[in-house]
Amino acid sequence: MWGEMTVDLSEIIAADKRYYMNTFGERMPVAFDHGEGCVLYDKNSKAYIDFVAGIAVNALGYAHPALIDAVTEQAKKLIHCSSLYYIESQAKLAQILAENTCGDRVFFGNSGAEANEGAIKLARKYFYNQGQERYEIITAKASFHGRTLATLAATGQDKYHKPFEPMPAGFINIPFNDLEAVESAISPTTAAIMVEPVQGEGGVFVADNGYMKGLRKLCDENDLLLIFDEIQTGLGRTGKFFAYEHYGIEPDIFTSAKALGGGIPLGAVMAKEQVAAAFEPGDHGSTFGGGPLACAAGMAVVQTILDEQLSDYAAQTGQYFFDCLKQLQAEYGFITDVRGKGLMLGMELDQSINGKDIVKAAFCNGFLINCAGHNTLRFIPPLIITKNEIDMLIEMLDNILKAYL
Ligand SMILES: Cc1ncc(COP(=O)(O)O)c(C=O)c1O
Repeated sequence: MWGEMTVDLSEIIAADKRYYMNTFGERMPVAFDHGEGCVLYDKNSKAYIDFVAGIAVNALGYAHPALIDAVTEQAKKLIHCSSLYYIESQAKLAQILAENTCGDRVFFGNSGAEANEGAIKLARKYFYNQGQERYEIITAKASFHGRTLATLAATGQDKYHKPFEPMPAGFINIPFNDLEAVESAISPTTAAIMVEPVQGEGGVFVADNGYMKGLRKLCDENDLLLIFDEIQTGLGRTGKFFAYEHYGIEPDIFTSAKALGGGIPLGAVMAKEQVAAAFEPGDHGSTFGGGPLACAAGMAVVQTILDEQLSDYAAQTGQYFFDCLKQLQAEYGFITDVRGKGLMLGMELDQSINGKDIVKAAFCNGFLINCAGHNTLRFIPPLIITKNEIDMLIEMLDNILKAYL
């Protein structure tokens, strides 16, 4: 066991090991108590500077007054009511998103996977309405689209498929950033192409400019829908409000979740008017999706990101962070790559080092980072991270990495 253990924690770990399904394996030996800004505190008040942010969820950091106020005020008034009735925060959040993106209409669910399910259903319904038998979705290898059966089938990683076969039909996974592979995969039954602008869980791989423009062109030429999974990349993370803006093209459908509800479960599928119109009453729904509390939180998050220009801030601090990681790469030969956009960065290590050991060492030094894809350290801090906090992380990494020379 690494890290410090308290009696308190032993009880939590014992209950977890006895009663919780073992889907997470060995967890970090900590239970956080509270947070402030970009810092989390455990029950002994030990501080950890957070470069994980609940896996790109806590964009405003912890205890942000706008989010606390919005959630507290809404909780006092009304936590849940059915979408059988009009919901003020649902309508207003849909308006803010539509007014600030290329999407015209929104549907809210409770998670990223649900948002992607909505996107897949919408694409299929769009062609069904036209009497066309087009249902297949082309997705990329090393992608990650969620844990429901359809989104697992969309996820281009065989290890997630095998234990749960048979996978739902109608998905084809082909190499990422390979336009020719997409072109050859298109068939008369293809409905859509679905990609992440930056693959997150797969190891922080950025879609090339030519690839993304090429996807748009292929969709236009073949009357297909282009779906962007912006669950991790959206809401300022990559230095733009949504990552499609980097490429000068627009998707027909795109999804958001993670940061959207500031930690209150909330996901969204957004689409152009003509595509969104394919959903008719009864086609889709959700008991909790778009509820008053989650949407009040969503309004606070989205409005704060827009008002405080956190996308631009993420672009600037992200560039600074990227340059710092590049300097580390120049010092340490075992760092094979530094990549990413904005505050979604990855530093790949060669096989001489296990990235998980670096994650553990960082943890012991009071920093939270994680490891994604092929031995890639991933940095997805709150969008309010400061240069000073980045400097502290870099200094700590420098000290840890020295031992591996
Ligand atoms: C790009 C992407 N899509 C979908 C998901 C699934 O989101 P959720 O875990 O909220 O269902 C994730 C989660 O990591 C993701 O990164």
